[in-house]
Amino acid sequence: MTDVHAHRGLNRQAPENTIAAFEKAYSAGVRWIETDTDVIADGTPIVMHDAATDRTTDRPGSIYDLTSSDLGKLDAGSWFSTEFAGEPVPTLHQLVDFLNGHPMNLNLELKGNQQGGRQAIALVEAAITELNRLDPSIEVIVSSFAPLQLAELSRRTDRFALALLADSRDLRANWRATIELCGATLIHPSTTLATHQAVDEYLAAGLRVNVWTINDLGTANKYRNWGCGVITDIADQMIGF
Ligand code: G3P
Ligand code: MG
Repeated sequence: MTDVHAHRGLNRQAPENTIAAFEKAYSAGVRWIETDTDVIADGTPIVMHDAATDRTTDRPGSIYDLTSSDLGKLDAGSWFSTEFAGEPVPTLHQLVDFLNGHPMNLNLELKGNQQGGRQAIALVEAAITELNRLDPSIEVIVSSFAPLQLAELSRRTDRFALALLADSRDLRANWRATIELCGATLIHPSTTLATHQAVDEYLAAGLRVNVWTINDLGTANKYRNWGCGVITDIADQMIGF
């Protein structure tokens, strides 16, 4: 069966990267969720895609100015629909608790590269602490666009599979060296990078390949036939894929 990752949860049925979006994925029978994490000012890892709260909460600002006590003031649901008013921004700790009760495999994307190396490493350490709390039956992939962040993680533990995120900004010519540097066993290319030739090269090198973000069934079928998994906003339409 092809691996289908619900991108930021089932983000068309509930606000992205909230427990509500992960609950929708669980109820739909989705086996993998993709989500994003970064650390706020007090070092707490939270589940959010952007470095600012403007798009997905009711209070604008940088996440790097928040502490844990601010999280309860944020409404991460009203922007999506009144049905989700008051939906909180989850911490990574809360996501792990949720997954231990609603088991789905986790593709955790590390953000944390906008404030320099110290923050990127703080995120690696915080993520390891939380991921170590997951039930061992839950498969984990840690993904990042930053090879050095993955390398830091692989220096600290070999418990989690690592995926190098790659888009058109990356030098395709350097992928082998980069993969070796960071200890990844998966590559997650954007559709722009995931040509048939590129996918064949990745698979021949023994890598697992998950392509993002695939939002139509025809393209998903193409990548399935090439041997890839998909990261998608419509995972509920790909159950049993
Ligand atoms: O994991 C694939 C995808 O999530 C990477 O891009 O910006 O949606 O986090 P983004
Ligand atoms: Mg992501």
